Amino acid sequence: MVGIASSPTRLGLAAFLLVGLATAAPSSKRAAAAAAAAAAVPLPDYAITYAPWSYLYSSEGTFPSDITVHLNHTIPEVNYAAIGAAGSVTVDTLDTYASDVYLTSADDISDEPAWLLSDYGMPDVGGSGYSAAPGLIIAAEKNESVVDVFYFYFYSYNWGRPVIGLEFDLHVGDWEHSMTRFVDGVPYAIYLSEHSAGSAYYWDVMDFSTQDANRPITYVANGSHANYATAGTQEYTIALGIVTDVTDAGYAWDITQNYRGYWYNTSTATFSLATGNSTGATEEASPSWLAWTGYWGDEQYADGVEGQYCLFGECLYTSGPTGPVTKNLGRETVCQTDDGCVIFDDLDDLTKQSK
Ligand SMILES: *[C@@H]1O[C@H](CO)[C@@H](O)[C@H](O)[C@H]1NC(C)=O
Ligand SMILES: *[C@@H]1O[C@H](CO)[C@@H](O)[C@H](O)[C@H]1NC(C)=O
Ligand SMILES: *[C@@H]1O[C@H](CO)[C@@H](O)[C@H](O)[C@H]1NC(C)=O
Ligand SMILES: *[C@@H]1O[C@H](CO)[C@@H](O)[C@H](O)[C@H]1NC(C)=O
Ligand SMILES: *[C@@H]1O[C@H](CO)[C@@H](O)[C@H](O)[C@H]1NC(C)=O
Repeated sequence: MVGIASSPTRLGLAAFLLVGLATAAPSSKRAAAAAAAAAAVPLPDYAITYAPWSYLYSSEGTFPSDITVHLNHTIPEVNYAAIGAAGSVTVDTLDTYASDVYLTSADDISDEPAWLLSDYGMPDVGGSGYSAAPGLIIAAEKNESVVDVFYFYFYSYNWGRPVIGLEFDLHVGDWEHSMTRFVDGVPYAIYLSEHSAGSAYYWDVMDFSTQDANRPITYVANGSHANYATAGTQEYTIALGIVTDVTDAGYAWDITQNYRGYWYNTSTATFSLATGNSTGATEEASPSWLAWTGYWGDEQYADGVEGQYCLFGECLYTSGPTGPVTKNLGRETVCQTDDGCVIFDDLDDLTKQSK
């Protein structure tokens, strides 16, 4: 959702050298991964018990994706030039790449290749909530009483909402999250990411699932995948004016049935493995990929290139986003932007955002 424009300056040489290093030491990497797996500390039970129960939109066309499938179909690029082959980056080598690397679609995205739309991640239509695309659950202990549990959702493609009949803000790669703050193991508040900001609510004011009264309902907007606490139309502003996201109780998605679990240490800013419930891949023994600060999609095309157009500062195609590590996991307040964070005590005003 959050397209971050950037102008990479470094050339691909450093990354080439790093790739060489990474491939030179596979056995020590495997040993490290095995050690990490053996040391995995389970997530707290409350991270699962009170996890959001989410609904994707009923006519959603861009479903949750598995990062390993995404990597398989992208090319590492710096300044629009390939520094490796399609599928050459894996979760085990990702963190050896520089932060100016864009994981660029190996296919023409206007052809809408199957991996980009990720039908495989469409939650089970029977309503069980299982998706073959694993989410991420990351627990961050803030101090003796406070633990923030982040639920990260990854999509290979963000479809932008049409404005004045034109589409804007399409991008490869889309990271969204919700975060529940637990105080002494009791849920206190929840934050929902929405475009460049988000909304925070006290726990008790949320609507809860009829399947499981412990689980707050979150709605995922069609295409943009912004998270909301209510179903209906949700307004937000871009340079061209007011745009609406739409949410409804379309496809039930239960992240606890398939996720990769991690801990984030706020004092060292490092990740370690937790036990998870992923059926999506075998590589999840390594948490190193989470430290990578590069871009999960194509770099924004110049105006006129690849069908790109821009109007009043909004472009059809924008850059892919950076990953979970850049979402202020060490936050003091419950909001991604600490400054001016407001926690709402009702769901009534659909237009308000905390930060
Ligand atoms: C939902 O998104 C899909 C594209 O992924 C689009 O085709 C469809 O028209 C959208 N529906 C609504 C109601 O916005
Ligand atoms: C990645 O691509 C390779 C080669 O095509 C394939 O064997 C492997 O199953 C793919 N992995 C994923 C996660 O898609
Ligand atoms: C993992 O998922 C399965 C099947 O959806 C579920 O029955 C099980 O309780 C889950 N285990 C954990 C540890 O969440
Ligand atoms: C974070 O890492 C430091 C240094 O290894 C360690 O002392 C501390 O206990 C860790 N914090 C948590 C919450 O595990
Ligand atoms: C624990 O951390 C939270 C979040 O950073 C903070 O608001 C709270 O004051 C801290 N409590 C203590 C006892 O340090």
